[in-house]
Amino acid sequence: MKLIKGNIVYAPRLGELVTLEHGALLLDDGGAVRDILAAPPESCDAEAFDYGDALVMPSFADMHLHAPQYPMLGMGMDLPLIDWLNTYTFDTEARFADTDYARRVYRRLANDLITGGTTRVCMFSSLHTDATLILMEELERAGVTGCVGKVNMDRNSGDVLRETTEESKRETLRWLDECERFRHVRPILTPRFTPSCTDELMAWLGALAAERGLYVQSHLSENDGEIAWVKELHPDCAQYWETYEKYGLWKDHTIMAHCVHSDAREREALARHNVVVAHCADSNVNICSGVAPVRTMLREGVWVTLGSDIAGGAQLAMNQVVTASIRASKTLCIETGGALPFLTVDEAYYLGSTAGHRWFGADGGFAKGMPLHAIVVDDGAFAEPVRALTLRERFERSIYLMDKSAIRAVWSEGRKVVG
Ligand code: GUN
Ligand code: FE
Repeated sequence: MKLIKGNIVYAPRLGELVTLEHGALLLDDGGAVRDILAAPPESCDAEAFDYGDALVMPSFADMHLHAPQYPMLGMGMDLPLIDWLNTYTFDTEARFADTDYARRVYRRLANDLITGGTTRVCMFSSLHTDATLILMEELERAGVTGCVGKVNMDRNSGDVLRETTEESKRETLRWLDECERFRHVRPILTPRFTPSCTDELMAWLGALAAERGLYVQSHLSENDGEIAWVKELHPDCAQYWETYEKYGLWKDHTIMAHCVHSDAREREALARHNVVVAHCADSNVNICSGVAPVRTMLREGVWVTLGSDIAGGAQLAMNQVVTASIRASKTLCIETGGALPFLTVDEAYYLGSTAGHRWFGADGGFAKGMPLHAIVVDDGAFAEPVRALTLRERFERSIYLMDKSAIRAVWSEGRKVVG
């Protein structure tokens, strides 16, 4: 057994924050949370990890990001979505045909994710099978867990980044065979978005998802131009989401990034099918897509999680993604004269941690019986406060101010992987 001592903070449900001053987490030998204690036991034969006055909180889950876009982080944000893809993004992803380059970039990315406190991801790779396998290796090596998708895209991608329908199918099967060797990183089917995939490929992926019990991730209703294009491509579908439903890709646990322009009917379809929204506030503002109606989605019972969406998003650090989602919700609050209340820090942190971890089967913050995913934050590095702060205040400040230097340790899947 292991005993982790520190100030315990977690968000078990939307809007609820538990703070236990000088509490403890008891782990079993496999690293699963056995108990959450208001005070450490006087004596205990567990191996102790004493983090003193630091905060011990659930780690972050980044539910939407593009690994091969890491090299273009902070670049090329002067265009709307489709032009941005054609002008910058596809050229960048094409570089990942080079496996040496992929190894270097992905090693750096995996290290930056884990030291920044992100222990679970749902991630897009590029269309390249070998680079995707390298990405999965590097995530496993660093201690990042979750799902990675070889991207399927057999149309509308220009000359540099192209696969035929046959290649896309063949390479997807080769990739899935190779994935057997990974323990903590699993495959997820990843049609890039409707404009990138022929009907034949979409239908094949839907059948494969059903046959092999695989999850699906893609993009939905991010930008007006994209939505109009999808309407032209599928005149038989009343709405964008139906282009996925038609091929068996719209199902329980499917992750749809963005949903900025999803109206009441599309949101109802999200809730009814338990399709998960990956809200990417920083990206949505950067490439001028809009602000997703997160408060409305939450009221309607839609499952909302957060994603960095690098490199549309310019912040890999998920605490920055949490605060970006708060700021975005405040713009809607201001515009509606308060009718749409903004996300509180507790709520946004819930979305960036617990709501994402739930996708992997771990609910309630520090999920009992599930392997520990946690960060240890040392807020002693921030400017000295004018008075003693409550643990709740220290948590809020940590969400806004933490960076790698304040993250003293990271636990992922029950193992200490940083610190
Ligand atoms: N839609 C299709 N591909 C992409 C992508 O790479 N980034 C974003 N933000 N939206 C997309
Ligand atoms: Fe994206």
